[in-house]
Amino acid sequence: MVAKFFIPSVNVLGQGAVEDAITDIQGLGFKHALVVTDKPLVNIGLVAQVVEKLNAHNIATTVYDGVQPNPTMTNVNQGLELLKQHGCDFVVSLGGGSPHDCAKGIALVATNGGSIKDYEGVDRSAKPQMPLVAINTTAGTASEMTRFCIITDEERHIKMAIVDKHTTPIMSVNDPELMLAKPAGLTAATGMDALTHAVEAYVSTAANPITDACAIKAIEIIAQNLAAAVANGQDIDAREQMAYAQFLAGMAFNNASLGYVHAMAHQLGGYYDLPHGVCNALLLPHVQQYNAQVSAHRLRDVAKAMGVDVSQLDDNQGACAAIEAIKALAAAVNIPKNLTELGVKAEDIPMLADNALNDACGFTNPKQATHADICQIFTNAL
Ligand SMILES: [Fe+2]
Repeated sequence: MVAKFFIPSVNVLGQGAVEDAITDIQGLGFKHALVVTDKPLVNIGLVAQVVEKLNAHNIATTVYDGVQPNPTMTNVNQGLELLKQHGCDFVVSLGGGSPHDCAKGIALVATNGGSIKDYEGVDRSAKPQMPLVAINTTAGTASEMTRFCIITDEERHIKMAIVDKHTTPIMSVNDPELMLAKPAGLTAATGMDALTHAVEAYVSTAANPITDACAIKAIEIIAQNLAAAVANGQDIDAREQMAYAQFLAGMAFNNASLGYVHAMAHQLGGYYDLPHGVCNALLLPHVQQYNAQVSAHRLRDVAKAMGVDVSQLDDNQGACAAIEAIKALAAAVNIPKNLTELGVKAEDIPMLADNALNDACGFTNPKQATHADICQIFTNAL
């Protein structure tokens, strides 16, 4: 099987990365940025701080701060309108997965035309998007370095998965100093999202030695640092380690893709407007329980990476240990206990399962499921 490896051409990581990146951006000759972000980051002053740095490097800025937690087609259209009005020649996304995904939607439609809906699926666009620099403030969705773009279609109440080589940003920036203000709940949810990326990529049918190395290292770092980053948001070392871990997990899933956790979590996010990381954290053990039928040996590796002594465990015992370790980490960072707590209703499950089976993320799950299987996994997680 041929493996293709997608990643932004420049990736800047570590304390002080933003300053360094903006100097690089100036060197690329861009003149006017559409800064795509959200209100909470405006309110804590982070947007003003980055805009000031851009302006100090002779880059004009127009800010679109209307991105919702699950970005919508309306958000994409609003940003696109501003981009056209102000003649922006590149896009800067500032935030977590929501601003990055929205910015990808804007940048893709800016050069390809039509509606973001036209690009649902895999590699549907003809041209590269408008250049996008993604400055990340969470750890994380890894959207700042992937070709995945998830946009909610408000009419159909579904999240569209747009997986397109043209949505890869030209530069990703991960500066842990921008992550210090992230609240504990968001740190936990986004960290569990990163863990899900790594585990799903590791058991994916498209995994290869490069993605395996990234996924296992990501799992190790998350197991060692997530609880510390949640307990003390000012722990810059834990923040920096989590920034590296989520980036590694991104390298893994951007190339090995994902599985049913994401395919199912997208439906919960799209229908009930629930937080992505929390949905993943709750579904991850149940989907891996299902996957253990074919991937027990891989899940044993996951247990080992999470710090379990697997030397005396066979594959099935190792898989069980991985599932327990995932549940223990979720509990340690105060993830809700089940989907019922989030308001998910049993009567909606057949419809959610229908849509989950159409989500491109599920195509690389190690065991292909029936509609009844997906319903059962949702039910187990209630
Ligand atoms: Fe995710």
